[in-house]
Amino acid sequence: MTFINHQNKVEEALSFLQEKIDTNPRCIIILGTALGGLTQHIEDPIRIPYHHIPNFPEATAPTHDNNLIFGRLQGVDVAVLQGRFHFYEGYSAQELTLPLRVLSLLQSEICIVSNAAGGLNPSFSPGTLMVLSDHINFIPDNPLRGPNIDDWGPRFPDLSEPYDRELVETTLKCAARLNISKVTTGVYTAIPGPSLETPAETRFLRSCGADAVGMSTVPEVIVAKHAGLRVLGISVVANINDPDNFKPIILEDVIEQTAKVEKKFQQLVLEVIKEL
Ligand code: HPA
Repeated sequence: MTFINHQNKVEEALSFLQEKIDTNPRCIIILGTALGGLTQHIEDPIRIPYHHIPNFPEATAPTHDNNLIFGRLQGVDVAVLQGRFHFYEGYSAQELTLPLRVLSLLQSEICIVSNAAGGLNPSFSPGTLMVLSDHINFIPDNPLRGPNIDDWGPRFPDLSEPYDRELVETTLKCAARLNISKVTTGVYTAIPGPSLETPAETRFLRSCGADAVGMSTVPEVIVAKHAGLRVLGISVVANINDPDNFKPIILEDVIEQTAKVEKKFQQLVLEVIKEL
């Protein structure tokens, strides 16, 4: 029953948004913790608070605003989710990806996801920008669980290339052109949260091949791939978690560190969008 409800909810939100816009967004951007500032660059913005949109959840996470903004960045039509939803807030993976599912039905082609993350790779430092090359999901839910809606995508979506190789290459080239240092690729792992990792869990995550850890992104990437979008993911590494010298992870520090590199993140995303 809830699955039929989900489809109805998505269609209701879609009809509402179709009334508000003249052109479909080519690119969807999801902004993570302390990364909402990119929205200042949007030309001719149409800002719609989430609570005006039927069936959209409300973001409760710190530093997340609650607006969907349509407009143009570098001449490209975009839809920006300023504020995202997390499993730890109590939403199912299906519920927290509803906004992205709705936007994907506006004939979008590309999805850029961002987040603040903890660094696991010892060569990283606070301020590293990690372009996602792959992910590992430890969130115990999947947004596609339940009957498949064939019009939205295949029952068993292939994830052999979750992050579009061409977009990764373009991003690395853009970073080099802009002289942005500390940009690298890596594997993101999603944990359910909201409690942070223990030293032993950190050792485990490192040993299974993860370079960064956070509490988001993967459910959205699964929906984006299901919908046939090309995906680019960027993590801002805010803190470094060393299992042998483990420091407390404080939210205020995560926000402060992310804010410090936000300008670099914005420059990079704007340059990538120019290339689309
Ligand atoms: N762990 C999980 N989520 C995070 C972290 C972390 O160390 N830093 C920022 N988000």
